[in-house]
Amino acid sequence: MKTLVLYSSKHGAAEKFAHLVGDFLPDSEVRDVSDKEGLDWDRYDALIMGASIYAGRIRKPFLKFLATHREVLLAKPLRLFVVGADEEKHRETAERNIPAALLEHAGGVVYGGHIFDFERLGFFERFIVRKVAKVQGSRFALREEAARQLAASLSPGA
Ligand SMILES: Cc1cc2nc3c(=O)[nH]c(=O)nc-3n(C[C@H](O)[C@H](O)[C@H](O)COP(=O)(O)O)c2cc1C
Repeated sequence: MKTLVLYSSKHGAAEKFAHLVGDFLPDSEVRDVSDKEGLDWDRYDALIMGASIYAGRIRKPFLKFLATHREVLLAKPLRLFVVGADEEKHRETAERNIPAALLEHAGGVVYGGHIFDFERLGFFERFIVRKVAKVQGSRFALREEAARQLAASLSPGA
C-alpha cells in the first residue's frame, strides 16, 4: 500500500513530523502541499496530511489544499495531524479550521507536538513566543510515538 504524506510547514516542524510518519511506513512519499508539480492521485492508496498552527489558525496553504482537493481526499483513507504549542486547544483549532466532513472521514486529528527553534524564528516571532507562550529558548518537542501510531493506524488490521 502506497501512502502519500502531505504537509505545510513554516519553519520545518510539520515537515519533520511528516518525515517521521513516512519513516514508519514501508512505502510512502512525503511532499509539501505547496509543491507545484502535478500530483497523480491514482498512485496512492492512502493519505496522511497535516500542518502547523499560527495565531489560532492552521496554515493557509494547507486549508486551501483541503478545499481544492476535498473530493479526492474524501475518496481515500485519510489521517490528519497538526503541530502546535497548544496541545489543549489543537482539537478545537482543527474543528474551527477543517471542514467537518474531512475531520470525520479522517477520524479526528492527531497532535504531533511542536518545535520552537529560535535560530529559525524571525525577531517578531521570537518576541511573540517569549511574550505569549512564555518560552525563552528553543524547544524540540515533536512526538515520535504519535507519528508511529499515526502510521500504524493505516496498516491493515489497525
Ligand atoms: C508567532 C507564532 C505564533 C504561534 N501561534 C500558535 C498558536 O496559536 N497555537 C499553537 O498551538 N501553536 C502556535 N505556535 C507554535 C507553532 O505552531 C510551533 O512552533 C510549530 O511547531 C511550528 O511548526 P512549523 O515549523 O511546521 O511551522 C506559534 C508559533 C509562533 C512562532
